[in-house]
Amino acid sequence: MTAPRHFLQFKDFSREEFDYLFERTRWIKQQFKSYHQYWPLVDRSLVMIFEKASTRTRLSFEAGMQQLGGSAIYLNTRDSQLGRGEPVEDAAQVISRMSDIVMIRTFEQEIIERFAGHSRVPVINGLTNEYHPCQILADIYTFIEHRGSIQGKTVAWIGDSNNVCNTWLQAAEVFGFNVHVSTPPGYEVEAERAGLYGNDHFEQFADPMDAARGADLVTTDVWTSMGFEAENEERLRDFADWQVDEEMMKVARPDAVFMHCLPAHRGEEVAAEVIDGPQSVVWDEAENRLHTQKALMEFLLLGRV
Ligand code: CP
Ligand code: NVA
Repeated sequence: MTAPRHFLQFKDFSREEFDYLFERTRWIKQQFKSYHQYWPLVDRSLVMIFEKASTRTRLSFEAGMQQLGGSAIYLNTRDSQLGRGEPVEDAAQVISRMSDIVMIRTFEQEIIERFAGHSRVPVINGLTNEYHPCQILADIYTFIEHRGSIQGKTVAWIGDSNNVCNTWLQAAEVFGFNVHVSTPPGYEVEAERAGLYGNDHFEQFADPMDAARGADLVTTDVWTSMGFEAENEERLRDFADWQVDEEMMKVARPDAVFMHCLPAHRGEEVAAEVIDGPQSVVWDEAENRLHTQKALMEFLLLGRV
């Protein structure tokens, strides 16, 4: 049996494969918008394992699989043996004998790597502490839809150097754009954790205004990610000067777009005027999770069609 292909971190796919996925996304989205039935995955089932909460990821994978003619099964830690200490390797053996593709949202990246190592079917990372590759797949597709090629552009990441930030940094190497990161002291990017090859595509700035200056895309995320709730109060204090507000958007390029993976906290990492303002593309960004992941599942299950 040949080893299945997985999408566990952004750099698992090549630039050429992403270009193909985006081409398929455009076509699949068009079918959906014009109410054309496209059922290439009839009889295929997706198992979705959630060890953390979700709205968009669950909905986009579940609806996406149904729209492609297949079915989706939801498992969470609380209601399955996963929460009672069944070894990840055993769960992978069993789940992958009963399904065609698996999506996992969990804590350490190591968990999903172990699962994939024992899975007979493709495994997709639906967010780990380290990465959120499906999010950046949708984000780059959204940028291209609004502004064209992202190559050579500048993305400003303001706030926590978390899983979403790490994935932007990996994507910068694949697509050849720059990421300007500004975090409070003590929360800087750890290149090794981000899985970077080098430092060619990113620069850290002490002052968030400097990071945003001249950017084509300004983006941020919650100050406290899932799993880090115990640090919430301390983070509220530490991140207070890292809010993306109208002043910050003014120093970016006039045609800069604002993105946020959501859920957002208005008045914390982003001002309401920005996320609800004319430069914000957050709803397109959320919707594109559906279309890009449908292309991803099609590719992992059927290859090039
Ligand atoms: N952006 C994102 O992954 O949202 P959910 O946590 O709602 O899935
Ligand atoms: N960084 C956030 C993203 C949520 C979609 C978290 O991990 O909670």
